Amino acid sequence: MIIEREIPLNVQQITRELTNSVDPDALKELTDFVDYYQLCHAAVKEVCTKLENLDADYATHFAHNPIHHMETRMKDPDSLIKKLQQKGLPVSNESMKNNLYDIGGIRIMTNYPGDIYTVADNLLAQDDITLVRRRDYVQQPKPSGYRSLHLVVKVPVFQSTGARIAPVEVQIRTIGMDMWASLEHKLRYKTHVDDAKLAEYADRLVAYTDELMTIENGMQDIYTDLNQEE
Ligand code: GTP
Ligand code: MG
Repeated sequence: MIIEREIPLNVQQITRELTNSVDPDALKELTDFVDYYQLCHAAVKEVCTKLENLDADYATHFAHNPIHHMETRMKDPDSLIKKLQQKGLPVSNESMKNNLYDIGGIRIMTNYPGDIYTVADNLLAQDDITLVRRRDYVQQPKPSGYRSLHLVVKVPVFQSTGARIAPVEVQIRTIGMDMWASLEHKLRYKTHVDDAKLAEYADRLVAYTDELMTIENGMQDIYTDLNQEE
């Protein structure tokens, strides 16, 4: 058995150790960041539990489970700073809280395109979940060919001081869309490959999006038809 212990940053300890060497405002920014980051992490775990419970519910009551698997991640502090800079926004906690909703993220992979909406609807129907933003790149793929349903939700986290609300980004896509996105993401970071080749591959990926869509919808039709036969 593996006992995995998280090593949290402790605000009191940081304050004690840095109080004589760091400017008080900067120290406050740092401890506020630690506080908010932990809150976002807790929010991810809250939403994750909801999804795990839905997964168990589907498995118990239905022949088909729309959730194939899930992944969670916290955006690392370095990427948060880079993202604020890229957007031309101030690098501060306030700016981060107002502008970045994907500090904590969950990705849900489904078998079929229709499953994406089943999971989204079941999550959003929960009383303590508030939809902040919905971007449907499944119905309207990005120019790159990227498809996925992006939701930003807010969820209460019950802490020692009471309930606090934090955002979580939920990306829902099929395993086919996920495979596509991984390869396309790789292509974006291949800066040493020559431009003509990159452009050709990007074009091919756009075309594959349409083919993949046809295949996924066709497979969903077969699956639905077979289920009706039972
Ligand atoms: P940000 O503020 O930058 O997050 O912009 P946004 O909120 O408009 O984000 P968007 O919903 O466009 O996308 C957020 C995430 O979706 C990214 O971090 C990627 O994980 C993924 N994504 C979006 N577009 C693409 C794309 O064209 N290709 C791939 N591979 N992933 C994408
Ligand atoms: Mg985003």
